[in-house]
Amino acid sequence: MAQYGVDLLWVLILASLGLSAFAIFISVSRHRRQHSKVVNSPSFGDDVASEAARKVLREVEKNGQSVDAALVTWSPETLRKILAEDLPDAQVIVVSNREPYIHNEDKNGDVQLVVPASGLVSALEPITRACAGTWIAYGGGSADRQVVDGDDRVQVPPENPSYALRRVWLTEEEYQGYYLGFANEGLWPLCHIAFTRPIFRESDWEAYEAVNRKFADTVVAEARNERPIVLVQDYHFALLPRMIRERLPEAIVITFWHIPWPNSEVFSICPWRERILDGLLGSSIIGFHTQFHANNFTESVDRFMESRIERADAAVSYGGQTTLVHAYPISIEWPVQLLKSLPPVEECRAHIRERFGIPADAKLCVGVERLDYTKGILDRFHALEELFIRYPEMIGKAVFLQIAAPSRGTLPAYKHLHEECQRLAEELNERYGSGSYRPVVLVAEHHSQKDVYKIYRAADICLVTSLHDGMNLVAKEFVAARDDEEGVLLLSTFAGASRELLEALIVNPYDAAMMSEAMRQALIMGPDEQRERMRRMREIVRDNNVYRWAGSMLLDAARLRKRGELDRVTALSERPAIANGDNVVSIFERKQAAGYR
Ligand code: F6P
Repeated sequence: MAQYGVDLLWVLILASLGLSAFAIFISVSRHRRQHSKVVNSPSFGDDVASEAARKVLREVEKNGQSVDAALVTWSPETLRKILAEDLPDAQVIVVSNREPYIHNEDKNGDVQLVVPASGLVSALEPITRACAGTWIAYGGGSADRQVVDGDDRVQVPPENPSYALRRVWLTEEEYQGYYLGFANEGLWPLCHIAFTRPIFRESDWEAYEAVNRKFADTVVAEARNERPIVLVQDYHFALLPRMIRERLPEAIVITFWHIPWPNSEVFSICPWRERILDGLLGSSIIGFHTQFHANNFTESVDRFMESRIERADAAVSYGGQTTLVHAYPISIEWPVQLLKSLPPVEECRAHIRERFGIPADAKLCVGVERLDYTKGILDRFHALEELFIRYPEMIGKAVFLQIAAPSRGTLPAYKHLHEECQRLAEELNERYGSGSYRPVVLVAEHHSQKDVYKIYRAADICLVTSLHDGMNLVAKEFVAARDDEEGVLLLSTFAGASRELLEALIVNPYDAAMMSEAMRQALIMGPDEQRERMRRMREIVRDNNVYRWAGSMLLDAARLRKRGELDRVTALSERPAIANGDNVVSIFERKQAAGYR
């Protein structure tokens, strides 16, 4: 008892001083050690001790939610520490549709490696490396099958392998129905509310369900024990958490929804809304970029499911199980490793300006993203025209370079967008261009991360004008790229990043007049103001980096696991002794008795 008392004091003192999450790690680890003593005790009967431990843990959990972890420097090392101390022996499995490395065959028959244009990939890749996990994804590259071993695995990153990429193969029909159909013609427009009508087809839904099951089979096959930590990514896998829960009840399933979640009225138009919610509520934790989207999700559950909403705990109880619903703002690695290999800003400027023919007296404005109707690319073009109409003296003084990686190009909405972008760019160039001056340079091609970072470093202004976006990591990458502390960020108020990067020029992309004024402000902004704004934004991205994003989820997972262990011990200790002394019960019985997962 004395030891518990000392611990309680320890936790309270540290928490009240507002010290870092490490204080909590230490306390929680100590309780784990004590808890394992309780588990190993022959009688399971020390109710007083386990109650004391539960009290202390509640205290830790309470403080864990209120104590800010800002004093921790979040790095790969921090993640490894959390895993080693708080989730010992946990195997981390990441599941996403998009793979972090794609092997493609070029026209000479050589295998080329491509890192896709995906915020999800740039966030998850350093995490998976740090955790030496397993990443399961759809193998969509034309040479993907050539490089895997007999178990469909390839070790990556190729230059310094640190984790296994396990590829899942899809038939053409599955790809059409699950990826292009239900995910990208149904859920994508449904969640983004960019005024593109969602299309729901029964056959797409069937393919979506079948592919989610295929991935569930792969998770089970890859799990080394019954208690992996599975990080399920995005709207391609709404049904997967429940499927994993059914087969691996002891797993911690953390689902992260990388795109917005609409309000319940909008969500209600999905014919399979209850199935989607049921699938997601198989998760232990569901994460969104913003509290607003987390609230929208909870509201949808409240409206359509027989559930209990625990608002104070940010949790949903459904079917006798509890799921935490939290906001975890995603980010990028800090420092960005790639920057080490890049030339200084001045060199990047000279190189990029020459490559794209930017006149010496024109400022360089850039946009970098997938060619997607949610990104507000056309709206930028309209704002540029508005700028030229309002301030004709700006003609010749600004060039807008739009890098647009082709994406989902077989879908009509994307084909149409591509055509519209080309048409409008040509129109603007005809109307406002002269001699070698072209106000719009549209490059609808994939660029390597290295090239993209060079473009960020060369830019005077970066425009992120999404009509709706979960977070938008381009905004954070631009800030990270500018170690010279110059450059201006124009950021949509409808991108999650605008909640953090307050020193950007925040714009409404639907308001061309407002955007044109912001563009002008950016074009004439002096270096001192740029530096002041950029410095503050760099601090935010540095402190809230992707290791903090993953670390917060893993800490919450560790708390859940500990709570589950303590509940299980309590359930066992409260169970009347069986005459023959055999009080071993199945894990399912214990779970039911303890009412947790
Ligand atoms: O960030 C949202 C997202 O949908 C990711 O899930 C995805 O990796 C990325 O955009 C790119 O989309 P896609 O994988 O369909 O090319």
